[in-house]
This record gives sequence, structure tokens and C-alpha cells, in this order.
Amino acid sequence: MKFTATLIALCAASANGFSINKPAVKTTTVLNAVATEWDLADIGRSVRIEGSSREHWEFPDPNQEIVQVGVDSNGRPVETLIELWIGPDWTPMKVKAYTEDGMMRPIQTLIGTRNKAAAIDVNNTGPGDFPLNAAAAYAKPSMVQQRADLLTANAGRYIEGGAVHSVNFDASVEQVQVCLYTDTRQLNAQVELLNGPNNFKQKFEVFTNNGLLNSLYVVFNSPGAGNVVRVTNLAPLEFPCKAFIASV
Ligand SMILES: *[C@@H]1O[C@H](CO)[C@@H](O)[C@H](O)[C@H]1NC(C)=O
Repeated sequence: MKFTATLIALCAASANGFSINKPAVKTTTVLNAVATEWDLADIGRSVRIEGSSREHWEFPDPNQEIVQVGVDSNGRPVETLIELWIGPDWTPMKVKAYTEDGMMRPIQTLIGTRNKAAAIDVNNTGPGDFPLNAAAAYAKPSMVQQRADLLTANAGRYIEGGAVHSVNFDASVEQVQVCLYTDTRQLNAQVELLNGPNNFKQKFEVFTNNGLLNSLYVVFNSPGAGNVVRVTNLAPLEFPCKAFIASV
């Protein structure tokens, strides 16, 4: 309880620090607005990254905290490693992300900078002939709010180290959001989108030394029927995490 309150307070505090870069006026429906907010062109300048190479973005403002990262492709698989750097030697958060189809189900995540001058590297760890496109920029307030709302929408669910938790979604759900955090202990977990038994379409694996300062927040596109979100806490038993999973 206290722990949730702390996180919400953190989210609220960081939201106050955001500067608004452009007016968030959209004339589309709610569902389209959500999808549009993840379009790379809407996030910022997008960069093409060839296989086995990386791109680097600087986030120098300690008054801002949340960075929106989007990665897509022309429909080919994407394999990437997203790293948060604070200073030249420290990567307190690493996210490995995979999608079978980077057009239908792009990689959509928010990464916290811990209110420090930070950098984010996106490495295309896939083969040389599978380029990807990536964009990263401080998140707009509406996006930060969407994450904060998820944490108050339901009670969440504790997942002990080693345990698995799955949630099914019906065909009417177009996007699913997932947030995982801890009470400051390490967070080492995997989140998959499956379509049919053991047929995984997309997968994130996070490691951070402090799962309160760096929660994992991802948004899956979930076209079609039979979608399941499966969270596996990869950490040892004494490192529980809390999961919030809901349609957008
Ligand atoms: C990331 O990209 C660089 C090339 O810029 C490469 O040398 C490195 O091995 C890549 N992989 C990882 C896991 O960092």
C-alpha cells in the first residue's frame, strides 16, 4: 500500500517536471490517439539502425524523467537491446526486446532516467540484413499519465521470484499495457505476448538493480483473438515484483 503510494507520488512528481514541447491536440478517436502517440514520427526524429550496430540518445535534463522509446521495422523481426546509461560506466537498466513483426507489433516502452543526466542506447542485435527504425524522446505528459493511471486502475498482482502470471485478452482489445516494479529490489523479469499456445509474438526481458527507480512499462499491440500476456519473474524467490496489466 505504502509502496504503491510512493510510486504514484514519484510518477506525479516527475510529471510536474515535464516541459511541453508541442501542443497535445489530436482530433482522432481515443483508440487512434493512443496508437498515434507510439508512431515513431510522433515520438521524435527516427533513426535507421542496421544489424549489429547501435544509436545513442542523450537526455541531459534532471528535471525530466520518463523517456518514450519506440522501435519498428518494415515487418521483419526485430531484436534489440535498450540500455539506460548514467555516466560513462553505469547501465542501471537493460531491456532486451524482440518482436516477430516490427510493423504489426512494434516495440513500445517507457524508460526512466532517475532524474539524472542520462543516455539511452538502442542496439540492433539482429542480423545485418534486418534494419530497424528507432526513436527516443522525453515522454509527453499524456503518456506519463497513461502509465500513472494503470497503477491506480487495479490492485496489481505480486509475483514471487520464479513465478509466472498470465492474463488473456479477447479480440476487441487492440493494445495491452504492462507495468512491473519492485519495492527497490532488483527487477529481472520477462513479459511475453503470446497468440495461441506457446506461440510468442513479442518478448521483453528487463534487468535493473532497482525496480522502483526503473519500472518496466511496455505497450503491446494485440491484434486478433487469442492474445495472452505472460509475465515470468526470473529473479530468485526473495525478489518479488508487482505487475499491473490492462487494456489501454
Ligand atoms: C551493440 O552494438 C555494437 C556496435 O555498435 C556492437 O559492437 C555490440 O557488440 C552490440 N551488442 C551488444 C550486446 O552490446
